[in-house]
Amino acid sequence: MTVDSFTGKLAVVTGGGSGMGRELVRQLAAQGCSVAACDLNADAVAVTAATAWAAAPPGVRVTSHACDVSDEAQVLRFRDELLEQHASDRVDLVFSNAGIGGGESFVNSPRELWERTFAIDWWGVYYCARAFLPLLIASGEGVLVNTSSVNGFWAALGPGVPNTAYSTAKFAVKGFSEALVEDLRVNAPQVRVAVVMPGHVGTDIVANSLRARGLPDPEHMTDAQVEEVIPPGARAGLIRAGALAEGASADDLRQMLVRVNADFRDKAPVSAAEAATIILDGVRSGAWRILVGEDAKMIDAAVRAKPEAAYDYAELFSGASRRAGGRNT
Ligand SMILES: NC(=O)c1ccc[n+]([C@@H]2O[C@H](COP(=O)([O-])OP(=O)(O)OC[C@H]3O[C@@H](n4cnc5c(N)ncnc54)[C@H](O)[C@@H]3O)[C@@H](O)[C@H]2O)c1
Repeated sequence: MTVDSFTGKLAVVTGGGSGMGRELVRQLAAQGCSVAACDLNADAVAVTAATAWAAAPPGVRVTSHACDVSDEAQVLRFRDELLEQHASDRVDLVFSNAGIGGGESFVNSPRELWERTFAIDWWGVYYCARAFLPLLIASGEGVLVNTSSVNGFWAALGPGVPNTAYSTAKFAVKGFSEALVEDLRVNAPQVRVAVVMPGHVGTDIVANSLRARGLPDPEHMTDAQVEEVIPPGARAGLIRAGALAEGASADDLRQMLVRVNADFRDKAPVSAAEAATIILDGVRSGAWRILVGEDAKMIDAAVRAKPEAAYDYAELFSGASRRAGGRNT
């Protein structure tokens, strides 16, 4: 089932206050699609909605809603609110995009942090699917678009960097979405599902993930907050990896966090706007798996080619780096 055009449709976007979600809202609205966007950060999503609406063609409506997707009652309230504000009894597209990082180590990270990350990244997607599936069925040609990650098929970020809560949730999102392919074919053929697996996309996810834990931006953190974000175990790992000098002060750690967020956003191979375009092109084409970025395609190919070497990083990427370097091809 391809989508000829988004014009005249109604889309739901979670996590619309920043990054890929914000760009999805902007691009959908510019293409004549009405959008209901939600975010944990009500101010940010209100700005997204206002600017997207101002630039949209006549007839489009863009609304913003405060909602924590990990809380089912809030998701249901968001659904009721948007149906009323858009005077609709169906939705055509649902982008379950909201997500955070955190809960890196199952061994050492605080349990609340692990479970908070899992709750947003998995239960948020699940609650939205529960809330919106009947409305996608009512659309007659609905599309559910769930955002996973390369960490939905490869549970690592590389040597010395555990990523357990995020990977567990993103594997769940990918597994759920794949399982829905056949379920929808049999039981709700008027709806299809797509799973998005981005590689590195330039967004503020590092700072936003800290904000979702109730922390300020890195430059405004107290020494105690910096120590909470980078506890002694993680610090030792960073020193071993050469990312931090021995005996680094709290201020060195703070500066490192500021740099990591800026570099993650500014040195990515794909921008948030480019990622949104790739996602919308994928939805339009009828794809059920949407890889975003050459890095995502490379990791996908490498893990499939050498599943046993998935966590032996040098071996996994040996051929890939030769290919990327133009040698030995
Ligand atoms: N940026 C990347 O490199 C990358 C790679 C792979 C996957 N992803 C995934 O893409 C999605 C979008 O990420 P992004 O990079 O655009 O991040 P982002 O931080 O720029 O945007 C995510 C938005 O989600 C919101 N959010 C967080 N928790 C929420 C909650 N409980 N309820 C509602 N909104 C919430 C944040 O406030 C933020 O506005 C996420 O699911 C992320 O895991 C990102």
